[in-house]
Parts: sequence; structure tokens; C-alpha cells
Amino acid sequence: MNFRTIIEPFRIKSVESVKFTRREEREAAIQDAGFNVFRLRAEDVLIDLLTDSGTGAMSAAQWGALMQGDESYAGSRSFYRFESVVRDLTGFTHVIPTHQGRAAERILFHSVLKPGQVIPNNNHFDTTRANIEVEQCEARDLVIAEGRVPALVHPFKGNVDLAALEKTLREDGARVPLVMVTVTNNSGGGQPVSLENIRGVRALCDRYRKPLFLDACRFAENAYFIKIREAGQGDRTPKAIAQEMFSLADGCTMSAKKDGLANIGGFLAMNDDRLAETARNLLILTEGFPTYGGLAGYDLEAIARGLEEVVEEPYLRYRIRSTEYLGDKLTAAGVPTIRPSGGHAIYLDARALLPHIPPLQYPGIALTNALYVEAGIRGVEIGTVMFGLRPDGSETPGAMDLVRLAIPRRVYTQSHIDYVAEGAIEVARLKESLRGYRIVSAPTVLRHFTARFEKL
Ligand code: F0G
Repeated sequence: MNFRTIIEPFRIKSVESVKFTRREEREAAIQDAGFNVFRLRAEDVLIDLLTDSGTGAMSAAQWGALMQGDESYAGSRSFYRFESVVRDLTGFTHVIPTHQGRAAERILFHSVLKPGQVIPNNNHFDTTRANIEVEQCEARDLVIAEGRVPALVHPFKGNVDLAALEKTLREDGARVPLVMVTVTNNSGGGQPVSLENIRGVRALCDRYRKPLFLDACRFAENAYFIKIREAGQGDRTPKAIAQEMFSLADGCTMSAKKDGLANIGGFLAMNDDRLAETARNLLILTEGFPTYGGLAGYDLEAIARGLEEVVEEPYLRYRIRSTEYLGDKLTAAGVPTIRPSGGHAIYLDARALLPHIPPLQYPGIALTNALYVEAGIRGVEIGTVMFGLRPDGSETPGAMDLVRLAIPRRVYTQSHIDYVAEGAIEVARLKESLRGYRIVSAPTVLRHFTARFEKL
């Protein structure tokens, strides 16, 4: 059909009510939460764009698959189904289930890192960075220069700066046990990495004899961006592109809470037999036996089915377009965002919108809280609070001060998104009245989750 309207490629069989609150109730709720939206009760949120992780809607086929779960402790049928789907997609020999992405990260990094080593990546996400720093190692961000300029339009802003990677490998190569590439690049705006760039990283890894791991949480969204943006890729299926992305790597970490279309789960996969053995031994220590890795058999079934659905073209066309729809509305209204729109989220540029709030007074927190109080929308700061604390305890501005509006998969309709655009545009109009914050209390690791703030 040649109509222009891209519709949700599903119909709705089961619904969940949302609760409407008054502005005074939201003001009280955010104050009780120490002005940190992570501390809110979710039922006090109208539209929850905190994360796209584990918040998606499963399909009828996935709910049906749950009943097929084999809960055997060892050798579960559900594991073999899960393993065969992951192998078909990634080509990796060893498939190790974990309860979510960060467990795969912890096991990988604890297995390979020694203090003082360096992991290069386009941009590390918060848990990835934390799992490297906890091993007393450096998480080095090497995204291309264009990827650091929010308003600049570039088709593959998640690309790795190959010259910078080569410099790291030349100068610090002895300290680099592996190279990572995050697809799509979440901390950098949900921006994709091109196949050409992954091939370039592969060539450098070959030259310097380093394994390459993908942080593959949003591999299907990345594959679809390649299909629509990269020369010569338009006729391929998203699955074939994804398979090529994985074929260029030696392993991956994966959060099935994103492009696994599941509410929980993840995996670590690789070709290296020795590393896999070390990883499985660690897995048994904290996650579980290697055929369930902290998941129920039914979770493995839901993920297996989700990985099949996520590469379907009608789904990805709707997914990428519906995120862009929100970005286009905000851009048309003059609200500064990372351009072009990411795959899973729109990132408001709080530093550009609120120049009167310096980074160390957290413009991203000011904007996040205003979105909640004015419109009941929950986004998340990705900026100085999330990334500004150095391992030595000092504080510096994050690379950017962003507020991410992450879109859960298959959950909200177009009118929900119209409402979000209206709310964000209204808050942008009130910008002069917004004030900064200071931190009252915070832990030293991953402080954004639990910090308490005070309005300045
Ligand atoms: N890598 C990336 C790029 C991520 O975005 C996340 C999670 C992880 C790893 C860790 O996976 O949550 O299953 O342990 N990101 C979520 C988010 C939490 O909101 O972006 P996990």
C-alpha cells in the first residue's frame, strides 16, 4: 500500500489505565522524592518515558510462549530454543543468559580486566562505565566529533572516531583487552553506527589483535538505520544487516529489555572458548546455572520470540518513525534536541534551552522536574548528574546536559506522543522561570539513581 501514514503495526488486546494527577499533587510528590524522578512512585506518573528498558509491551505470541517455558534447572528446552535464536542472529558460539545487560557487562569485564586497563567505546552507558571503573580501569569514549554536537545533523552520529581509536591502540594498546562499540549509541543520543564504521573498527582490531564486542542492546534499531541511511543497504532485510553487524564482532553484551522486546533478561555471547569458560564459572557464582543464568525458563521463551519479532520490518519502520515524529514536532516548535532523532528516544538539550543554569547546577534536573510537574511526564537526566562525578570524587560538567524522553516499545499511541510534544513545548516556554538544583545527598557510584536535590 502506498499511503503515507505509518501506523502502529499491531492492534491492542489488553490495556492498563493511567492515573491523572493535579499539579499540586505532582509538586508534593517530586518534593517527597527529593526532586529525583527515580524516587517517584510510578503510578504518580502519567506518561513514563524514564526508560525504554523492560517497559515494552509483549506480543500475544510472547505471552503465549511464556506457557511453553521449561523450568528445569539444567538443560531446559527453553534454553535451547533461546540459544538457537541468538546463534542464528549473532553467529556466536557461546550464548550465556544473564538476568539483564549489566550482569553480562559485569561478568565480561570482571573476566578480562586488570587494574589500569582501558576499554575504548563510542560512548559507554552508565552501567558499562561503572562496571569498568569498579575494576579500576578507564572507560574511554571515542565517538566522532559530530556525535558531541547536539544540533548537528549526521546520519551516523554514533560512529567511532577511527583515528582516535587507532591512537589509543598505538599508544595504549598493551592496556586494551578489548574494544567495544555500542549500537545504537545511547549516551550519545540513540544515534546509529554505520556498517562501514564497524568494518573500520574491525580492521583496526585485526591490525592490533584485539577482540571486538558489541554492546548490542538496540541492535535492531541500528540495523534499520543502516538500511534507510547507508548507501547500498536499502534492499537488505534488517535481520541480514544485524547478522552482518554481529559477524564483524567477536562477542556481545545484550540487554533483552530493549531489542529483546522482553521485560527482563540479557545475555553475553562470544566465540572465545577460554573466555566463555571463565564467564560461565562467574555466572554460576552469582547468576545461576549456564542454561538459565538468573532467568526463568519462560523469560527465555519470551526473549527468543522477541528477538524474532524485533527484526520485522513493519515494526522497525513504525518504531523509528514514531520516535522521529516526536522529534520533528519539537524541532518545529524550536525546542533544542539532539538531531537527528535517535531510535529509542528524543534527547532535549537542557544546556541549550537553559543557558542561565550552569552545568554544575544541573539544567537537566531542572528540565526533568518541570516536565513532571507541568505535564506528568517522566524523562531522565543524562548529563552532569549521571556522568559528572569522577572516580576521584571531583565533579566536572558532563559532555552534554540532556533530558532523555525514551519511548517504551509498542506502549504509547500517537495521541500520547502528541500530548508529550505539547507538554515539552509548554515547559520550554516557561524556561526563564526554571532554576537550578544542588545535591543534598548522593552515593559515590551511579549517584543519579538515588541522589536527593534541593532547589536553588
Ligand atoms: N548498555 C546500554 C547501551 C544500555 O542502554 C543499557 C541500559 C545497558 C547496557 C544495561 O542494560 O539495564 O539490562 O542492565 N540502559 C537502560 C536505559 C537502563 O534506560 O537506557 P540493563
